[in-house]
This record gives sequence, structure tokens and C-alpha cells, in this order.
Amino acid sequence: MRFAGSHNSMQDAGKRDAGARAADLVRDGTVLGLGTGSTVFFAVERLRSRIAEGLDLVAVPTSYQAAMRAREAGIPLTTLDEHPEVDATIDGADQVDGCLRLIKGRGAAHTREKCVAAASARLFIAVDPSKMVGVLTGPIPVEVLPFACKPVMARIAGLGGEGVLREGLRKDGPVITDNGNFVLDARFGAISDPEHLEAAIEAIPGVVAAGLFTGFTERTTVLVGEKDGVRILGRQPGL
Ligand code: 5RP
Repeated sequence: MRFAGSHNSMQDAGKRDAGARAADLVRDGTVLGLGTGSTVFFAVERLRSRIAEGLDLVAVPTSYQAAMRAREAGIPLTTLDEHPEVDATIDGADQVDGCLRLIKGRGAAHTREKCVAAASARLFIAVDPSKMVGVLTGPIPVEVLPFACKPVMARIAGLGGEGVLREGLRKDGPVITDNGNFVLDARFGAISDPEHLEAAIEAIPGVVAAGLFTGFTERTTVLVGEKDGVRILGRQPGL
């Protein structure tokens, strides 16, 4: 199967190196969370080779895209019902700050990604260097129930932000997530207190999940695909 977007990703050396390195950290027998997006694609390709060499794993996909790519690569799939405890997750991010707090959700998969991250003992976040920032600036993807879209926008404005309904590129009208919901991209400018903002957005009735990930820093290893090799930040891979 040919996947839209994979051609451009193939040209991105930073994503390729970081994704492949994350896949190299996966141990035999792992229950692996599989994130969504172009960087994870490179991890999946590496896992395809490792499975051919005998690696044994099962993966919990975070989206239809992740499931389709994994299936195509011969990665056996499972669910959080069957494996509520996940050993490690490989995922990407849109921004990573110095404390390893993340913004995720460009691919509108952040709700399931957050569920899988919360179930995972370890998080391997693979990025190219452009994702590394001093301060998170967003926009923050916010998955919302269609029923509550307008009141959620008003509440986001009340928090000092501006929520814009995400529209499809090759579909008219709003993007519909894998969960059947809408996505708002919420702009707040520089985010001075990400923990507080994540909690405040997620407390709005009708919000399913915000693409701010501040609660996983202790279990996170960030792999940055630099020109001269993959830089590792945070928790060391073997520990
Ligand atoms: C999907 C995500 C992705 O992990 C994030 O957008 C990074 O994507 P890419 O690896 O394609 O740059 O959060 O919802």
C-alpha cells in the first residue's frame, strides 16, 4: 500500500534517523505503543526489518494510520483492552521544550496518543531538530465533541487563546478525528505554564483531550535526529 505523505518524509533525514533509533530500543517481547505521523513511519520501517530478523512484539496503534502502516509492515496488533499496560511507546511530537513537555496532535491523533502514553512505562519521542524549542508556542490541538464546539471556543477565548476549527485539506468542512470529533487549533502565543494550561483546557466540558503532554516527562526519552547523529535527552534508554 502507498501512503500519502510518506514520500516527503523519506527525504527528512532527522526524522528517519530518530525514528530508526527509537525502533532499535525496542526489546524482544515488548508491548509497544505506536504513535502516528511521519517520524513513526520510519520507526515502523525499522521494526519491519527487525521482525524479519526475529524480533517479537505486539503493538497498540494510536490511529487508523498507525494500524494500517503497522499491519502492512507485519507488526502484530493488539489493543488496550488486551494489554492495558504498555512497556514502551514510540511517538513523534510537534514541539518539545527543555523539560520534555510536548505539543502533539498535528495529525489529530493526540487523544489516543495520550491514552497510550498514560498506559506506557516508557515514552520514546523521536523528532527532527526543528521540533526542539525553548518555550512551547503551539498551536495546541484540542479534540472536542462537535456538540460543544462553540462553547469550547468561547471558553478557550476566556483562557486568553483563540481556537480555530481545523478544516480538511482534501475534504470540505471540519477534520473528523478517528473518534468522530472535531479539532480546534488553539493559539496562546508563548505558553508560560503548560501544566496549568493543559489542566485548564481539559477541564472545559466538551473537550476530549488537549495536545499538551506535560505529565510524562519522567518516563520520556527524546531522540533528536541531528546531522551528526542522534542526540538523546531525558531518561536514558536502558534505565
Ligand atoms: C499526530 C502527532 C505526531 O506525533 C506529531 O504531529 C508529529 O508528526 P510528524 O512525525 O509527522 O512530524 O502528534 O497526532
